Amino acid sequence: MKVTNLELSTDEMLRMGESALRSVIDHIARLPVSSCNGLDRYNQVMELLSEPPPEKGMDFEPVFDYLINQAIPASITHPHPAFMGYIPGGGLYASAIADFIAAATNRYVGVSFAAPVLAQLEKTVLDWFVEWMMYPDSARGILTSGGSLANFSAVVTARKHLLGENFSKGIVYMSSQTHHCVIKVANLAGIPEENFRMLDVDGNFRAFPEYFEAAIKEDLEKGLKPFLLVGNAGSINTGAVDPLIELGDVAKRYGLWYHIDAAYGGFFNLCEEGKKKLKGIECSDSVVLDPHKGLFIPYGTGSLLVRDGDLLRRAHVMSADYIQDHPVPDYMWDAADYSPELSRSFRGLRVWLPLKLFGVQAFRENLSEKLRLTRWIYQRFAEEPGFECLSPPELSAFAFRYRPEKGDIDAFNRKLLKTIVASKKLYLSSTQLNGEFVIRICILGFRTHKPDVERAFDLIVTTARNLENLE
Ligand SMILES: Cc1ncc(COP(=O)(O)O)c(C=O)c1O
Repeated sequence: MKVTNLELSTDEMLRMGESALRSVIDHIARLPVSSCNGLDRYNQVMELLSEPPPEKGMDFEPVFDYLINQAIPASITHPHPAFMGYIPGGGLYASAIADFIAAATNRYVGVSFAAPVLAQLEKTVLDWFVEWMMYPDSARGILTSGGSLANFSAVVTARKHLLGENFSKGIVYMSSQTHHCVIKVANLAGIPEENFRMLDVDGNFRAFPEYFEAAIKEDLEKGLKPFLLVGNAGSINTGAVDPLIELGDVAKRYGLWYHIDAAYGGFFNLCEEGKKKLKGIECSDSVVLDPHKGLFIPYGTGSLLVRDGDLLRRAHVMSADYIQDHPVPDYMWDAADYSPELSRSFRGLRVWLPLKLFGVQAFRENLSEKLRLTRWIYQRFAEEPGFECLSPPELSAFAFRYRPEKGDIDAFNRKLLKTIVASKKLYLSSTQLNGEFVIRICILGFRTHKPDVERAFDLIVTTARNLENLE
């Protein structure tokens, strides 16, 4: 069906919506039996994109068909139950509906005067996060596009609060396992590269608080200005959780801002087992949580909470003559006052709606299941001859490798990973630990359940044995 006016008739809207909805639902229903990796098709599909801007429009059905049946499948299938690489995302359908509602009604949520109730809805979501992280009422937060920009605002807030405008001597401390985005955004926030201290970790890839203390003392003696200490609550490589309480003590002792990157691990605080692992997260000055990881929300949703919300506001607030018409009462919350963004999507709705519809319990149970499945597969690897795990999982990720009887171990594991990914039945990724190539597994998809993990284990073991027999 062809549409010509930008304003559609109700019938056109309905037909376009139904067509898109049907294709999407079909796509989701086929996910479990579809390929885990469709990258082999992308060149061919991409060719169809090379065209000048179309002067005339076309029917929407073939366009949806191209998107849903060609362009989207020509990718790694992140929402697949057998996707266990990197950090799995989710993509709750309820969030997609929320995005549809938000975009189709298109209200302005950056400032509260334009949509006070919708601004408050976002604040409500952030207040829930504050409660889950056991932060005080003084805490405020923002929803961002992801963990990287949430970390950016955290660094800027710490920098402005502790160093003012003169920050060339400001030093940042973190373990070698910290996500590279923290270095990137701190650098973008003006901290020179030579001011980063990447400290060694213990055998379980957790920070050594004593190393942080020693490094801070050394820098103080040199006349430098230690100002930011970053802890990990679920590192990217192995899901390691740093000793959060002890790191907090060091930060406090030397007057540093204590930031925790819990982009991956933070929402495990919703369940009892996770809460035990993340003890101390509540001691931080700021924490990053990624709803597009641990809450299974579609990509494009991160968040930052700052214990003293006024500091977050002071670091970001700015006004202008052309927005003087609507002074904001004190009890209202303006996202733009706490964030670098002004105009932006109504991303709070994609978090709020699923929480309203399913309740927190559904998320808690799914996250607990992920912890149980990870312990289960870890135990299987620990008992399986030839396999070694580099450290026990604290959350839902760990690294392992196979030790073949002969030959180069790194080369074998590279081949093992390549063969697994090429099977399109399971997606895993790799990293380097202690200078060695290792395979990572991270179980976080809300669609991933016991049979998927059992199949993953069998596939990994069978592939390793087959490869060894071929060597
Ligand atoms: C621990 C950690 N921090 C930060 C990030 C970056 O988050 P984003 O990709 O949402 O920007 C990631 C992403 O995987 C992560 O695992």
